[in-house]
Amino acid sequence: MKSIKEIEISDKSTLVRVDFNVPLDQNRNIKDDSRIRSVLPTLKYALDQGAKLIIASHLGRPKGEVVRGLSLSTVARHLTRLLGKETKMAPDCVGPEVRKLISKMSSGEILLLENLRFHQGEQKDDDSFAKELAGFCDLFVNDAFAVSHRANASVSAITKYAPASVAGFLLQKELAYFSHAMNDPKRPLTAIIGGTKVSSKLGALENMLRHVDRFIIGGAMANTFLKSSGVDVGKSRVEDDLLEVARSIMEKATERGVKFYLPVDAVVANRIDPEAEIKIVPIQEMPPDWMALDIGPATSLLYSAVLYDAKTIVWNGPLGIFEMDAFSRGTMAMAHTVANSYALTIAGGGDTDAAIRQAGETERISYISTGGGAFLCLLEGKVLPAVAALEAAEQRG
Ligand code: 3PG
Repeated sequence: MKSIKEIEISDKSTLVRVDFNVPLDQNRNIKDDSRIRSVLPTLKYALDQGAKLIIASHLGRPKGEVVRGLSLSTVARHLTRLLGKETKMAPDCVGPEVRKLISKMSSGEILLLENLRFHQGEQKDDDSFAKELAGFCDLFVNDAFAVSHRANASVSAITKYAPASVAGFLLQKELAYFSHAMNDPKRPLTAIIGGTKVSSKLGALENMLRHVDRFIIGGAMANTFLKSSGVDVGKSRVEDDLLEVARSIMEKATERGVKFYLPVDAVVANRIDPEAEIKIVPIQEMPPDWMALDIGPATSLLYSAVLYDAKTIVWNGPLGIFEMDAFSRGTMAMAHTVANSYALTIAGGGDTDAAIRQAGETERISYISTGGGAFLCLLEGKVLPAVAALEAAEQRG
């Protein structure tokens, strides 16, 4: 992929697609602006080069309807503060009014287009919608890693019509960190995989078997692996239809010499409730009517020993219900262990990011991906559709 650095952008109408899909509270205040901050290098570079900067994003899932609460206007105000320069808000993302605004822009001016998903064409990867967006620019820049796993018009079809299409710094950085960690890692490479369902991480587990030296498993998905190894996990959440699949993943790991670590103890409760009575039990002694909701202290110790000599760590998914204090200790301990390690540490996924923030360790992780679904897609070994589109554009020349 060509980089924004490799192309002349001075005085060009430059459309930068970003992912400003940020969490808002009920008063539409931005709860976490890291996705906005992460693209500032690209936006500042474009401004410094004298581009006419047109920014496009989606926010939420309005499904082709105009939903006022999902207007990007609140982001425009925040961006004005972050850039120290006025970001004008367009009334829409396409149409004659927007075209007129763009035609009047001077070098160094910033216009944020309204939510792309107010139009059906965006998520349908519609050619005429993409053509209209592309018609606004001399140059298209994709810096929206977090939505690059979607074949949406503003990241995919647009590359067929924009005069030139290049990657922004964030997209390049995300792909470079990931590819370095998975394809050219310093070993041992350890993957920490947590979360609720084996089913949602199946593709990632299968693909990573080919890359990692060790797996550390946590979250409710550990129960499925434990049950498939003959452990009675009581009332814990289990995907019974995946017991055979779980067994086969562990067998493949053994065949490949990949170490596969499961919890040895658990924090259990008789219901999912912050006020519920809790116990810490060895995994072999799960009470029949209780459920495992976090890894226990012995597992935390074991996992920190496993990570002791790791040189590369990739983490996706929490190890327990970290949102409830009673079941957060395993995930918090893991965040501290990962932060304290001497490894290159890469974390991805909305929950993992939130857990690391809750542990106060954001600054001490080498790289936290801005992507949830996009990060998982990379873990599955897939080429992101938007990246494939940029590469195809590059080949067409
Ligand atoms: C995300 O938040 O993961 C991206 O912005 C993609 O959003 P989506 O899952 O609604 O497509």
